[in-house]
Amino acid sequence: MGKHVIFACALVALIAQVRGQIVPLKIIDNAHEKLAVCIDGSPAGYHYDPGFGDGVNNWIVYLMGGGWCAHWTCYLRMGEFHGGTKNVHVGPETFSGILSSDQSVNPEFYNWNRVFLRYCDGASFLGDTEQDDNGRLVQFRGSRIFSSAMDELLQKGMKNAENALLTGCSAGGLATILHCDEFKSLLPNAKRVKCVADSGFFIRAKDFPGAEGREKNFRNVIDFHKLYDILPKSCTSKVNVSLCLFAEYLVGDVQTPLFLLNPIFDSYQVKYLSPNPPELEGWNTSCINVTAIPAPPPTPNTCTPPQMKFIKDFGATFLDAINGLPDNPSRGLFMTSCFYHVLTVSNALWNGPTCKLQDKTISQAIGDWYFDRSPIRMIDNRIDAPVKCG
Ligand SMILES: *[C@@H]1O[C@H](CO)[C@@H](O)[C@H](O)[C@H]1NC(C)=O
Ligand SMILES: *[C@@H]1O[C@H](CO)[C@@H](O)[C@H](O)[C@H]1NC(C)=O
Ligand SMILES: *[C@@H]1O[C@H](CO)[C@@H](O)[C@H](O)[C@H]1NC(C)=O
Repeated sequence: MGKHVIFACALVALIAQVRGQIVPLKIIDNAHEKLAVCIDGSPAGYHYDPGFGDGVNNWIVYLMGGGWCAHWTCYLRMGEFHGGTKNVHVGPETFSGILSSDQSVNPEFYNWNRVFLRYCDGASFLGDTEQDDNGRLVQFRGSRIFSSAMDELLQKGMKNAENALLTGCSAGGLATILHCDEFKSLLPNAKRVKCVADSGFFIRAKDFPGAEGREKNFRNVIDFHKLYDILPKSCTSKVNVSLCLFAEYLVGDVQTPLFLLNPIFDSYQVKYLSPNPPELEGWNTSCINVTAIPAPPPTPNTCTPPQMKFIKDFGATFLDAINGLPDNPSRGLFMTSCFYHVLTVSNALWNGPTCKLQDKTISQAIGDWYFDRSPIRMIDNRIDAPVKCG
């Protein structure tokens, strides 16, 4: 039995390899000279699967996510998955969802050149500084990682791209918003350059409980990584620089067409970036039974009525932030009530039947928007509670 299981896994891996699904790590050339290095000083890298067929001149660049760090949480990342490339866990990457080379999963982008840029700087590919931590050199070089990787990809053929798409999830979704115009400027001859930010819209929501914590969270990142002169002037000239990682102050100034893909009840934000007042009784999301949602309490969710109200209010506040953005006809929107964080990686969410809006999967909606087949502005109308998807 054991042998068969191992064999089956090896076979799946082999087939996947043939189809280009398992993609090795490529370290950036001369990374040390360029200071394109991770927090622990190891060279940064990416995973690249070449395009084929009529996709050879199209490029998609995916920015990996993984939260942010400041102070000791950055030191903890040294030698880890999110702070270096030397760790045993950093091996080949399996491409799925928007990076899949399987046409049935990823009909719009399957044969494009597909790149997954590893996140190992802790500040959404922005910082450019170093620190001496008691004699130990610690690097925060996200902006050099981004620009060195882009240089290398341009040389590999991205400079001839006809179509290009910058995307990413979570901290990489926020990085997509922040690097979108820069990405476009690298490709002056391309026919079409656009960006898709997946789950990168982290709200400040200054009037919603927990704002102080959310503000402090990003202020610490901005201070620690010294992002003052790196964050967009369009934001820092308008509001206090310490607020310029909140998408609500950034999206309006992005010139390149940008698609916001986000869960309304973003499970990461609901769970970690929300307050814990007494009436929520030790709030955490474990009371949410996603298989039962949207069945109202008391069964079979174990959330108390105040907890359910809190979740509902979060959703309303999130949508207020989206609806408060300056109008822009080129912007795409897909706001789902699925209780998730990150929607582009899972095949089932990306192009499956349960995360549709107006009968379109996420893949179809983004394809229609990307190729100008139709504008997409879709907001789930199930706004009382998250729903089960995937
Ligand atoms: C920006 O906000 C920080 C933190 O709240 C505060 O200390 C600082 O004085 C503010 N800067 C300006 C220019 O208002
Ligand atoms: C979540 O909250 C419940 C109810 O207060 C508690 O029993 C449980 O231990 C908490 N779980 C975690 C992971 O904190
Ligand atoms: C969640 O809800 C489903 C469907 O109603 C139910 O079968 C399951 O037992 C519930 N799970 C928990 C942990 O309560």
